[in-house]
Amino acid sequence: MTVKQFSRTIIGMLDTLKQQDLTAWEIAQAELSRQRNGLEMIASENFVSLAVLEAASTVLTNKYAEGYPGKRYYGGNQFIDQAENLAIARAAQLFGAEHTNVQPHSGSQANQAAYLATLNPGDTVLGMSLACGGHLTHGHPISSSGKIYHFIHYGVSKESEQIDFDEVKALAKEHKPKVIVAGASAYPRQIDFVKFKAISDEVGAYLMVDMAHIAGLVAAKLHPDPIPVADIVTTTTHKTLRGPRGAMIFCKTQDRLHLEDKKNLAQKIDSAVFPGIQGGPLEHIILAKAVALQEALQPSFAAYQQQIITNAKILETIFLQNGLRLISGGTDNHLLLVDVTAVNLSGKEAENLLASCEIYVNKNAIPFDTRSPMDPSGIRLGTAALTTRGLKETEIKLVGEWFCQILKNPTDAAKHDQIKKEIAGLLEQFPLYPQINS
Ligand SMILES: Cc1ncc(COP(=O)(O)O)c(C=O)c1O
Repeated sequence: MTVKQFSRTIIGMLDTLKQQDLTAWEIAQAELSRQRNGLEMIASENFVSLAVLEAASTVLTNKYAEGYPGKRYYGGNQFIDQAENLAIARAAQLFGAEHTNVQPHSGSQANQAAYLATLNPGDTVLGMSLACGGHLTHGHPISSSGKIYHFIHYGVSKESEQIDFDEVKALAKEHKPKVIVAGASAYPRQIDFVKFKAISDEVGAYLMVDMAHIAGLVAAKLHPDPIPVADIVTTTTHKTLRGPRGAMIFCKTQDRLHLEDKKNLAQKIDSAVFPGIQGGPLEHIILAKAVALQEALQPSFAAYQQQIITNAKILETIFLQNGLRLISGGTDNHLLLVDVTAVNLSGKEAENLLASCEIYVNKNAIPFDTRSPMDPSGIRLGTAALTTRGLKETEIKLVGEWFCQILKNPTDAAKHDQIKKEIAGLLEQFPLYPQINS
């Protein structure tokens, strides 16, 4: 099928939706228009290809497929098995893990399954604190992870604002966790997984890496690879990896800490996902994961990931020239964490101000933040989505300048209007989903 024919499928689908349920269609169209007309700089977001979008809207959504390929609890799964095996094979080719599970519905559930596979309630885990860049599911008290397990948290050094491995080691030795979690949601630097592994080995803990944010960079070999090092690696599929909303888990086959157990680590992970925490897998999304993984196997994907980093580095330079303070002084990856109190704004004010000019970022705590989580000192932004849209050096420089002009002139409505016009002019040159009718 050609791209043109695929496009017709989508257009046809939305036309049916429009005829049958105008309210729902209008919501979808309004969101499409928002995505088209704004600068999407939320570090955890991206735009999937039309092929991924179409795979996610296939009839595979109709099928119950509890279990795994070849071992389902329902009949009629011969094609579903093909879809899931395709996703597993492509993930294995891309990441080279000994075992891959493509069923987790989300990153949070992937982490939940990883904990269920390795821990009992009350067991001790060492993870990065939310305040220093970790994720809620790394043991925050309001998350089930923090309620079920006994999490201890490491942070970053006050001086460098980077992971302090002396602290990680000291905490690991003191608390003897069963699992050490590496990986983050708001950490602009590369993470040294080998150092984490050495500490895990010293205290007899599993190493679990949550590479949700950096999976695309890892796939392109532009970030140290956790898969050869860690026992378990979880990832979302929808951030830098540019797939549908969902997740995957990679692991070693052997449970090196419990070789005597009847189940190996791969079996423990699979039964933690199903029936441990999930029922029927979202096979339409698994098909879309397969499509995204095939895209990630193309040489153009590595070039795309390199451009993400190049674009982030350009923003780093422009932000620093404009007097913004960057957490850890800059970035090595796709994201930047900016302390906006340096320009007399709070994170919430900066988020709202930028959104009023069609630039989307999120407010974010910075390490050692003295402000409240609902209105912290920082904003977090990334370059994956704009890079997908096609913005390169020339355009990202413009974006960086507009960004700083808005933050430095928060009440200058005329300037904001002018910038909004310029953003609209720029984005016209980089149409988003032009095949979908407005
Ligand atoms: C590091 C990390 N892990 C897990 C998650 C959770 O993913 P999801 O929102 O799909 O549950 C996120 C989401 O932002 C994340 O950044």
